[in-house]
Amino acid sequence: MKDLKRIQNESLSAYSFRLSEVYCNSSTHQYRKNMGQFFTPLKISEYMAKLLYDEPQEDITLLDPGAGTGILIASFCGIVLNNEKKPLHVNIDAFELDENLIPLLKETLEQCKIEFNQHNIQFNYKIINNDFILENCQYYNKSKLNNFEKNELKTYNYIIANPPYFKLNKNSKQALALSGLIYGQPNIYFLFMALSSSMLSNNGILVYITPRSFTSGLYYKRFRSWFLRNNNIDGILIFESRNDIFSRDKVLQENIIVRARKKDPNIKHMKEPIHVGICYDRSLSNIETIIANYNDVIYKKNGDSFIRIPTSVKELSLIRKIDKLPFTLNDLGLKISTGPVVAFRAKRYLTNDYDEKSCVPLIRMHNFRNFDVIWPIQNNGKEICILNEKNTKHLLLPVKNYVLLKRFSAKEQKRRLYASVLLKSKFESHKNIGLENHVNYIYSKSNPLTPEQVYGIAAFLNSSIIDQYFRIFNGSTQVNANDIKNLPLPSMDILKLIGKEIIENGKSSEQILEKIVLDKLKLIDRSLFHYNQR
Ligand SMILES: C[S@@+](CC[C@H](N)C(=O)[O-])C[C@H]1O[C@@H](n2cnc3c(N)ncnc32)[C@H](O)[C@@H]1O
Repeated sequence: MKDLKRIQNESLSAYSFRLSEVYCNSSTHQYRKNMGQFFTPLKISEYMAKLLYDEPQEDITLLDPGAGTGILIASFCGIVLNNEKKPLHVNIDAFELDENLIPLLKETLEQCKIEFNQHNIQFNYKIINNDFILENCQYYNKSKLNNFEKNELKTYNYIIANPPYFKLNKNSKQALALSGLIYGQPNIYFLFMALSSSMLSNNGILVYITPRSFTSGLYYKRFRSWFLRNNNIDGILIFESRNDIFSRDKVLQENIIVRARKKDPNIKHMKEPIHVGICYDRSLSNIETIIANYNDVIYKKNGDSFIRIPTSVKELSLIRKIDKLPFTLNDLGLKISTGPVVAFRAKRYLTNDYDEKSCVPLIRMHNFRNFDVIWPIQNNGKEICILNEKNTKHLLLPVKNYVLLKRFSAKEQKRRLYASVLLKSKFESHKNIGLENHVNYIYSKSNPLTPEQVYGIAAFLNSSIIDQYFRIFNGSTQVNANDIKNLPLPSMDILKLIGKEIIENGKSSEQILEKIVLDKLKLIDRSLFHYNQR
């Protein structure tokens, strides 16, 4: 095919990118989606290669675990060849499961070989048309043993990847092979990342482009702590716009590029600063970078580790202040759970015919009105009640004072955290109440919460500083109970003071709410805490 020939003066990366376009034109979107095929745009690929190869080496071993047409490898080769100090040997292994891509990948690698050979550099490559995870799971198992150094498995000093992205069945062979890292249904991308890290030599570097989702959340907890134990992250680039980078493939995900260095178990590693960049466009011409302390980014709480992404000096200052709040929900004797009523499962017990004797109010996200819970509200025919009977007993909660928190927000909404209070006094004609599954609720393990307490907690969560803080460690529109469990809180006395003032003055105005929370937390420098100001 004429299209497959490299044009004169075409760079290696531009050539491979063109091959990916040829491939996309000859395959369906659905097929590529099933295979997790989202090809890296040229500029991003070149940026990743630069990030990876930051100092010249004599011997290069590179792995790309899901190579596609080889654009990341081609970009890497371009950067290596551009460096004045040339390597002596280059060895590349490229895994690719889809046999349709193999001829294109081979074209790219052959072109790389020609260029290296022109510089008298020994260049070898291997294309492995197999499942990367099944082919290499012995690395992960060996990496759990301390004598990893002694085994003979080949390791790499560079790994570059844009891994496939799709959910795997937790009983799939791939998930079972790395079961120690899995909680719930895994996404294939983080298994790639884990296995790659096992295949790095000590001090080797990996650069990955992935969704941001692994940086927080319960499902990735095991992977995160394992990854951070074995690697030091030293650079992160986040893309400001969700739908920008893989626009050709209609991917709506917040993506990040991570650079990490494999720890050498023989060396005591310092907690080095981390470069964090934010990129405002896909051409990567507009990047702002800050240098954060290790603990600003890698945050440990309650035995969990999170990767936070502060992107401005203001955000750094904010997290350092909020981190100092000494308590968590658990410390204050509080719990957070998810509303037990899953509407589609409980369908036959839900009704719009309210009868005080046989049913109780069902509270959903649309019942939130600022701080208050307003019921009933008709919304698209969604049932407003749940039957109060033997079969629904386990789904109902006693009527008490609760803080309710929406579990989801829309991307375009100003805030992520929306809290309201459910007051016992407003629902006193009922003993029980139903909370739908899109709502989290906070309650006390012992004495019921007072109105001041629930208003105080809700106001704290509704303040823009806490919303900003939350966004720095959770990029998704979902608010998981686990993330709230790890949120730093002030003492209950301070929360009560906030609640008292909110009840008296502050329910209706965002500005007053903000002022009350800042005053009570004694956070003096207000200019730091302004909505959406980076
Ligand atoms: C997101 S694409 C990235 C391709 C290329 N590296 C790039 O940056 O454009 C992921 C690639 O991994 C391949 N792939 C999917 N599952 C795989 C597996 N289990 N083992 C190896 N490759 C796989 C896909 O066919 C696809 O080409």
